[in-house]
Amino acid sequence: MDFKKEFISELEKTIDGVISYDNLVKMIEKPKHDNLGDLAFPCFELAKHYRKSPIIIAEEIVQEMDVSTFERVESVGGYVNVFLNKEKVSQEVLTNILNEKNQYGYSGIAEGKTMTIDYSSPNIAKPFSMGHLRSTVIGNSLALIAEKQGYRVIRINHLGDWGTQFGKLIVAYQKWGNEKKVKESPISELLALYIKFHEEAEKDSTLNDQGREAFKRLENGEREAIQLWRWFRDESLKEFNKIYELLGIRFDSYHGEAFYNDKMDRVVDILAEKNLLIESEGATVVKLEGYPPCLIKKRDGTTLYATRDLAAAIYRQENYHFDQSLYVVGHEQSLHFKQLFAVLKKMDCDWQEGMAHIPFGMILKDGKKMSTRKGKIVLLEEVIQEAVQLAVKNIEGKNPNLLEKEEIAKQVGIGAIIFHDLKNYRLNDIEFSLEDMLTFEGETGPYVQYTHARATSLLRKGEFQPDSSTVVKLKDEEAWPVIKLLNQFPDSIAKALAEYDPSQIAKLLLELSKAFNKYYATVKILTDDQKQQRLTLVYTVKIVLKEGLRLLGMKAPTEM
Ligand code: ARG
Repeated sequence: MDFKKEFISELEKTIDGVISYDNLVKMIEKPKHDNLGDLAFPCFELAKHYRKSPIIIAEEIVQEMDVSTFERVESVGGYVNVFLNKEKVSQEVLTNILNEKNQYGYSGIAEGKTMTIDYSSPNIAKPFSMGHLRSTVIGNSLALIAEKQGYRVIRINHLGDWGTQFGKLIVAYQKWGNEKKVKESPISELLALYIKFHEEAEKDSTLNDQGREAFKRLENGEREAIQLWRWFRDESLKEFNKIYELLGIRFDSYHGEAFYNDKMDRVVDILAEKNLLIESEGATVVKLEGYPPCLIKKRDGTTLYATRDLAAAIYRQENYHFDQSLYVVGHEQSLHFKQLFAVLKKMDCDWQEGMAHIPFGMILKDGKKMSTRKGKIVLLEEVIQEAVQLAVKNIEGKNPNLLEKEEIAKQVGIGAIIFHDLKNYRLNDIEFSLEDMLTFEGETGPYVQYTHARATSLLRKGEFQPDSSTVVKLKDEEAWPVIKLLNQFPDSIAKALAEYDPSQIAKLLLELSKAFNKYYATVKILTDDQKQQRLTLVYTVKIVLKEGLRLLGMKAPTEM
């Protein structure tokens, strides 16, 4: 329910056009203390316009307002403070949630529109990095949020499965490789071969030429090279799929860079036709204003990452007809995406307006960039297993008789990693500490999950049956902060999509959990004449927590 709108139409009676509607929306604040009301409008800007003191203006506005819409309106120190009608609001919000259930918050504003999201996109034959983990978690949540607003979403894993490094890998495998070892642990074995190649190339420079030749054979589609490459790709993908399965993540397309091999000539032709290609030191480039030129072909005629991304963008537009196309990739690739969008603009692809790079910060350990390589390699899968083990320990301490402990620990351990990432604005760096992210108290995923489990058990104990005809006029002061947060849920989803920022939802869930736990601690829910009404509130909290967690890509266990 949009009380802001009602407030604004009341404000407009007095100020009539001096400030635009959109600016009014931005100016409305939340008062610093609850006892100052639910919404506040500062009159300082109007003071400049009217050349009057803001205190007087606030008083005049209050005089003009129709108070029946609100419980009370006050002018305090240059602010117009509004107290919402608690009974009316709680009735409306709770009835909405009772009727809509997990559909609550669905806006449908993007119905009929398509969004492609390119996320995760790890590199074959290399370990899945912390950066890829962030991309995976953020991209997955954005996909779910976009669907909640009505988008048809296409999830794309643009695998890094092409490039000169595969030529080197083929040479290394043919010289020193062992089939059995690669099958046993593909990623670490292929990485070891890749590292050995570089060590040996220091001593024997002909190796680099051999690598280039092998890549040429690959680009020319020679059978033996292709067979090896395909095998490396399959084995790596098996390994990555274990991580996706743990995280509960799926993709609609695994078309990686290699998929665009036969689609790049066309791109080069279009560029040539539009007179955009120029020779520069033997290479072929597109000149750009404000950025360095975009490299299309190397001196030896081979194509590059950017060329493949151009082909991929065109392919996605032609096949999916996207309205929006997101790339969830670390901020170190910002220039690459600026160049990509600029080249498409030069090609007169006006649909490039719908494309956006969604960058994010790094994962740190003790303030330093965390790499998945520590001495030898630490696989991400091991980090996840460690989180699950720690969750098992925590659950055993709290609830030793819990059934299905392993499954729940998995949901909690993985949820902890996801939440720890998504509660921060994505551009911030985040510190990775399993202990911190797994506590049941504080700003963690397990805390929100635990609150959900608590609400569920309360409903069970109270033998609650939802009934949408319940008249919920909660008189408790304590219920009010909870209801206000429930009311904000649809807004926070809209904001999360507009800013491509799942932390909007994570933060709301934290606040809702805190407010609910406070309610739980002060109000006797089960032993009162208002039991049905209060349990209805508990029920709506449970719905919103569960749906919010789902939008972050997390499970909501009913017991913990
Ligand atoms: N494989 C790349 C990397 O790990 C990320 C690819 C991102 N997607 C894209 N279309 N460029 O750095």
